Amino acid sequence: MADVLNKNFIDGIWQEASAGAVFKDINPAVNSDVVGKFPESGVEDVDDAVRAARKAFRSWSRMPAPARGDILRRIGDLLTERKSELAFQMTREMGKPFFETKGDVQEAIDTAYYAATETRRLFGHTVPSEMPNKFNMSIRRPIGVCGIITAWNFPVAVPTWKMFPAIAAGNTVVFKPSEDAPHSGALLVKVFEDAGVPPGVVNLVQGSATAGRALVEHPDVDAVSFTGSTETGSKIGEACGRLHKRFSLEMGGKNPMIVLADADLDLVIDGLLWGAFGTTGQRCTATSRLIVHEDVHDDLVGRLKEKAAALKLGYGNEDDTEMGPVINQKALDKIEKYIGIGKDEGATVALGGKRAEGPGLEDGFFFEPTIFTDVTPNMRVAKEEIFGPVLSVLKISSYEEAVKVANNIEYGLSSAIYTQDVATAFKAMHDIEAGITYVNGPTIGAEAHMPFGGVKGTGNGHREGGWEVFEFYTETKTVYVDYSGKLQKAQIDNVED
Ligand code: UN1
Repeated sequence: MADVLNKNFIDGIWQEASAGAVFKDINPAVNSDVVGKFPESGVEDVDDAVRAARKAFRSWSRMPAPARGDILRRIGDLLTERKSELAFQMTREMGKPFFETKGDVQEAIDTAYYAATETRRLFGHTVPSEMPNKFNMSIRRPIGVCGIITAWNFPVAVPTWKMFPAIAAGNTVVFKPSEDAPHSGALLVKVFEDAGVPPGVVNLVQGSATAGRALVEHPDVDAVSFTGSTETGSKIGEACGRLHKRFSLEMGGKNPMIVLADADLDLVIDGLLWGAFGTTGQRCTATSRLIVHEDVHDDLVGRLKEKAAALKLGYGNEDDTEMGPVINQKALDKIEKYIGIGKDEGATVALGGKRAEGPGLEDGFFFEPTIFTDVTPNMRVAKEEIFGPVLSVLKISSYEEAVKVANNIEYGLSSAIYTQDVATAFKAMHDIEAGITYVNGPTIGAEAHMPFGGVKGTGNGHREGGWEVFEFYTETKTVYVDYSGKLQKAQIDNVED
């Protein structure tokens, strides 16, 4: 299984891209380690994949949903068997430590078993009719062919958040993974194949923007689900709007953690190390703003600096690594640019702020855990997503001010508040403008059976995960059955004027 599956997977067959062009995928921690070369797919490849998905839709959508659930359970079993092997390859390709990629696979396993149970629900409604001898109900129908475009930071979990509910509901899929995580995408698709998913139900097309655009614009793709940058998401949204497609966007975040004066600071520090520096800060849910009460600011920042400075950086497949590299040179350049922006704006680099050096780090994209202090709410480093191990610290003097600062951004994905006061915690659940709020936990930690998604500029109102994602992947069909044996005119026959 560890072989590089460096091909597209269309209609049940692993195949080269038609034009034969390839792109190189390297290990971000050890750049000399080339993971493989993958097809740079074009319009024709996407077209083949969509045609295969359309063909498969007929029988797949007619299969009883619980039978699709049986296949999803087999997928969950296979992911369980391959968990360590997959995690090793994911770490090699995208850099986060092995214990994190194992968690990533576990999230996919949970999603598989959860989606399998949903195939026995997929509830509609039955409601009374306003006419006698007439029966009203709504049922759920699959949409058709779904285009799935994902980021590299959760190379297995996030694609499965989309693909498992999509196929559970009877849709078929064309999947384009990030060009920074093509191998993980291929290994995932191999699991579908080995679990007995029929040809054409799940198709894999590797590549970059050309393939992504072709998928979004393809007239026979009915729905698009995307996780990635706000810039790309906006373009996808525009195209889908123009083409009358259903689309779900999961984009950026600038997630706040509010720490009030009564917070348990040991708990806060553990939460910050995980929230801000887990996945090297490269999560849409990363804790990127610490909004802390002035009474505990200095103590907290002092202790956090010490712990963050001690994080062991390295290749994630080495046992003691706590923080991996960032994904590529472009990401490094972007982080460096923001360090300059923060300094120019008057923020203080309290820790880090530069590329990490030292034994084992020479050949990778490593950046030091970084803390900006003296950040004020309108600085760019307080508002813009950096997507790296950079935490901006803002000082406040009341709960009300904390909420105002927390909401002073375009995004609204995740958020957290640390307080011992239950009334304040409940107020925050309503006051913070975000799709997710954690109380006494950091901004990351989604569970597969709970809705996941953001408000404001983070998304377009849909949720992944949990029961809500099935809303996205199904159409409602409204059904009236009139067994009165005569024409009954609603709003007319049953109303006396
Ligand atoms: C993402 O950042 O793209 O709760 C998804 C979490 C993870 C999922 C994050 N389980 O942060």
